[in-house]
Amino acid sequence: MNDAVMSVQAIRLAFVNRFGIEPNIFAVSPGRINLIGEHTDYNDGFVFPAAIDRGLTIAARITDGPTQTFSLQLGEGDEFNTTEVKPGFTTSWSKYSAGMNWALTQSTSKPLPNLIAVVDSNIPIGSGVSSSAALELAFGVVWNELADLGLTNQELAKLGQVCENKFVGVNSGIMDQMACALGKDAMAIFLDTRTLEIQYAPVPEGLSIVLCDTKKERALTSSAYNERRSQCEQACECMGVAKLRDASLQDLELARSKMSEVVYRRAKHVITENQRCLDFKDALASGNLKEIGELMKASHESLRWDYEVSCPELDAMAEAAWTSPGCVGARMTGAGFGGACVAMVQTSELDAFTSNLLAQYHATTGRIGEAMACNIVDGSRVLKA
Ligand code: GLA
Repeated sequence: MNDAVMSVQAIRLAFVNRFGIEPNIFAVSPGRINLIGEHTDYNDGFVFPAAIDRGLTIAARITDGPTQTFSLQLGEGDEFNTTEVKPGFTTSWSKYSAGMNWALTQSTSKPLPNLIAVVDSNIPIGSGVSSSAALELAFGVVWNELADLGLTNQELAKLGQVCENKFVGVNSGIMDQMACALGKDAMAIFLDTRTLEIQYAPVPEGLSIVLCDTKKERALTSSAYNERRSQCEQACECMGVAKLRDASLQDLELARSKMSEVVYRRAKHVITENQRCLDFKDALASGNLKEIGELMKASHESLRWDYEVSCPELDAMAEAAWTSPGCVGARMTGAGFGGACVAMVQTSELDAFTSNLLAQYHATTGRIGEAMACNIVDGSRVLKA
């Protein structure tokens, strides 16, 4: 809370410097990390993310003129009029604010006020921790409040996905927006992406969540992501199921001869990852650290060999984590193709873990990685004065 308040004072000043007037609404929106359940959300499966204290703060105020936004990290956004934006409007970071504006207007049919806004973020970009969902939800909660739309955070999360799919043009699932919108202090989120039902789960006492950034910028080439999606759909067709959530390993073996080897492996990852996510929930609840470690490692190997979304840097980081002091478990997190690993580490060993991890990663790849212990925080919300 102290951090948020300090950051509000800083952003208020930045806003006044930029626009010469006081803001009258503030909101915060976190990034997210995913403990397990990767590439399962668009298959109606299970995921296990958490909102983290790498997030963004926004200060805003209604204006008569066009919407003008400024990011302290990315600079000036494109100006737009809330009643006029359409998909294809921009490729800059303004696609997230304009896209959320568009998704909100489409769904509520209510015109939104124009805004002046300043955004301050400490979410690493390109590390796979959902800086884009955080932005969508930040603008979502602000407009929801200012236009009195009365939407819940779950509804805002769904509209964040509409923005991502239809405006930004990335065919992603619902995990990131749900994690940002519905994060809860000190709780990981077990989410059934079919029903959107959530079970909050505390992380065992004495464990820290560490973001192990490869500093290899994630190339979420929509093409590779969309290709995985369509391979999952092909597997469903071969098995006669609506979604991979509905298939068992036995169904997959029975239909194996009807699909290519690649499609088989993609489906195998998703089916086994869903089970790992369920098993992880039990292991977390019972504090079974050995099983937590095994499940995270198996998830990484499955993403590496069967789903083929890892890369040498993510493999080197995961391998460095597995052999570092105090590591309970580690795996790549997010879409892959670069970005970061997540590790669960004994808090008492954090220093030894970090120095060993980064030295080993550097020795293997020649790259300087970064390790950040993260606190789990509440989701996107307007800050009450
Ligand atoms: C990205 C997408 C999510 C999810 C992950 C992979 O973060 O935005 O919807 O598919 O990749 O688990």
